Amino acid sequence: MGRYSVPLAPKLADFAAITAAQRVLDVGCGPGALTTELVRRLGPDGVSAVDPSEPFVAAARERHPGVRVERAAAEELPFEGREFDAALAQLVVHFMADPVAGLREMARVTRPGGVVAASVWDHAGGQGPLSMFWEVARELDPDVEDESRLAGARENDLARLFREAGLQDIEETALSVSVEHSSFEEWWEPYTLGVGPAGSFAAGLDVDQQAELRELCRERLPAAPFVLTVRAWAARGLA
Ligand SMILES: C[S@@+](CC[C@H](N)C(=O)[O-])C[C@H]1O[C@@H](n2cnc3c(N)ncnc32)[C@H](O)[C@@H]1O
Repeated sequence: MGRYSVPLAPKLADFAAITAAQRVLDVGCGPGALTTELVRRLGPDGVSAVDPSEPFVAAARERHPGVRVERAAAEELPFEGREFDAALAQLVVHFMADPVAGLREMARVTRPGGVVAASVWDHAGGQGPLSMFWEVARELDPDVEDESRLAGARENDLARLFREAGLQDIEETALSVSVEHSSFEEWWEPYTLGVGPAGSFAAGLDVDQQAELRELCRERLPAAPFVLTVRAWAARGLA
């Protein structure tokens, strides 16, 4: 999903009003689309990052010397209260075991009046990067567990979670990004890697079913090269 999360990062940073001279925490930094954007705006000294996955932590430390990177989940952040001017989580809330606890922790480590912001792809509204894949998957298997029920993946759900976490002055918006695909194969290839719920679903099919899934997707996409415009829900609130 890096090809979509990279252009999403500056949009989330703008929505959270991240400018120079701020100390910002990147929660669930993962492969680092948002971390890179924050370092560009603030320099490494202004950025801290956490992720529960050790390989992501190691990669972030190597890629961004000077950024403080800790291994931790949002629900238990290893920081004092009010350490940051803002805390952001790009494409992470839906992976949290307890999204309200995670957002409450993000508020705790943010100074009073500082911004907490998060984004999640529009999995439920059919306009996320994986939506077309899941639409076809549901036709082949009506019982498939797609990602539409995940926290924050439908309109107004992030705002509800922010309210439950006690944030103030909450606003929700949709952030759109457009990505060009040079060929159908380039679009399809990530689904063959077994990564995430979509990759697991594809990996669990037999060869014929996988070929059917691939060809149905191919029929629905425009001729290459094509541009897909997708959206994420984003919410911000004040600590
Ligand atoms: C889709 S990736 C997003 C990575 C990054 N924010 C970006 O935009 O490139 C989701 C990340 O959330 C992390 N994650 C999962 N559960 C988490 C939790 N409870 N708290 C913080 N991060 C979590 C995963 O390890 C993964 O790195």
